[in-house]
Amino acid sequence: MAEALRIGLIGAGAIGAWHARIVAERPDAVLAAICDIDTDRAAKLAAPWGAAVFTDAAAFFAEAALDGVIIASPERVHEEQARLAAAARVPMLIEKPVAPDPAGIAAIRAATASTGVPVMAGHVERFEIGSAQLKAAVDEGVCGKVVTIAARRQFVAADTPRFKGLSTTLRILGVHDFDLVAWVHPVPVVQVYAAAGRGRVHAETGLDDHVVTTLRFADGAIALVESGWTLPAPYGVFSAPASWSPAGNNRLDVFGALGMVSNDMSLRGQQLVAFDEAAGFRAAGIRHQPILNGRVVGALAEEVAAFIRMIREGTEPLVGLDDAERAVRIVEAAEASLASGLPVRLDG
Ligand SMILES: NC(=O)c1ccc[n+]([C@@H]2O[C@H](COP(=O)([O-])OP(=O)(O)OC[C@H]3O[C@@H](n4cnc5c(N)ncnc54)[C@H](O)[C@@H]3O)[C@@H](O)[C@H]2O)c1
Repeated sequence: MAEALRIGLIGAGAIGAWHARIVAERPDAVLAAICDIDTDRAAKLAAPWGAAVFTDAAAFFAEAALDGVIIASPERVHEEQARLAAAARVPMLIEKPVAPDPAGIAAIRAATASTGVPVMAGHVERFEIGSAQLKAAVDEGVCGKVVTIAARRQFVAADTPRFKGLSTTLRILGVHDFDLVAWVHPVPVVQVYAAAGRGRVHAETGLDDHVVTTLRFADGAIALVESGWTLPAPYGVFSAPASWSPAGNNRLDVFGALGMVSNDMSLRGQQLVAFDEAAGFRAAGIRHQPILNGRVVGALAEEVAAFIRMIREGTEPLVGLDDAERAVRIVEAAEASLASGLPVRLDG
């Protein structure tokens, strides 16, 4: 077997912890180093696998002898970290959104193009079986000419305080679906209109509670994307079963001239639920990073597997900077629409 790849991680937070575990569980990779400005957090995550700990990204790239890096820090620092990775010639997987705005993505493109270092975008929905099979069905013509797409992504608000002042509802949630709908229907988006419902989440964190975005494609098709923190707390805040992550209320429906395809991951369509007197109702989040036989499987592990293959085989990233830019351009237009209250035109 080829030598294990030395993979580093920047950002030992919520999603970084999953990436660390997935890398460490792979037989063909080692989690070589973790970099976080919070040393305690990095050290705690690194300890079980003996990964080196850094607080300074420049030292991390200079000393850790990496074959690849997963950048899972907040999006406002992705650009500077991608520049360091490019200078060190280290292929990178950058969590979504790859940058807060298209200018940030252009800067990452410029830094990496000059060195030829590959960049993969961490759009995990591309690796969900339901999303991928829906895309395949639409490509096969099951719907005929696409008329409308509806996407919903809704969670409890428990996670929002850590994004206060750092991100927005559309960068956290909307970007997943802007990428999905533009992937499923790869026609340029020419107009974006967004409106926000604001309540408790907005008052406490500045994030919009729920955003409804409509997109118009150049061929006349439309999409409706809902992104919200509007599920009641008990739905996703529980302590038992200990191994369950909370589910969301998600769906993706495509309707066309000849038919429809629907990936129902909604409130009433959860595969695994529990209801007991002590804790009430829970639904298990078995999307993205379920655990099977003590290992993380599912979409996030598939995303990391694709990243490892890209490094080993020198292939193009399955999700690249063009995809990242397309999704972030829609985020930017939707946020401009939220600010002005008006539809925003995009150059096809
Ligand atoms: N793919 C997904 O489903 C998914 C899920 C969650 C988050 N994300 C994305 O991942 C990124 C991180 O989100 P999170 O929820 O893990 O956030 P988080 O706040 O839980 O973790 C971020 C970590 O980065 C560290 N950090 C901050 N600035 C840093 C710097 N300059 N250098 C090194 N480390 C730094 C913080 O100390 C923290 O440990 C965001 O861009 C987010 O949108 C993606």
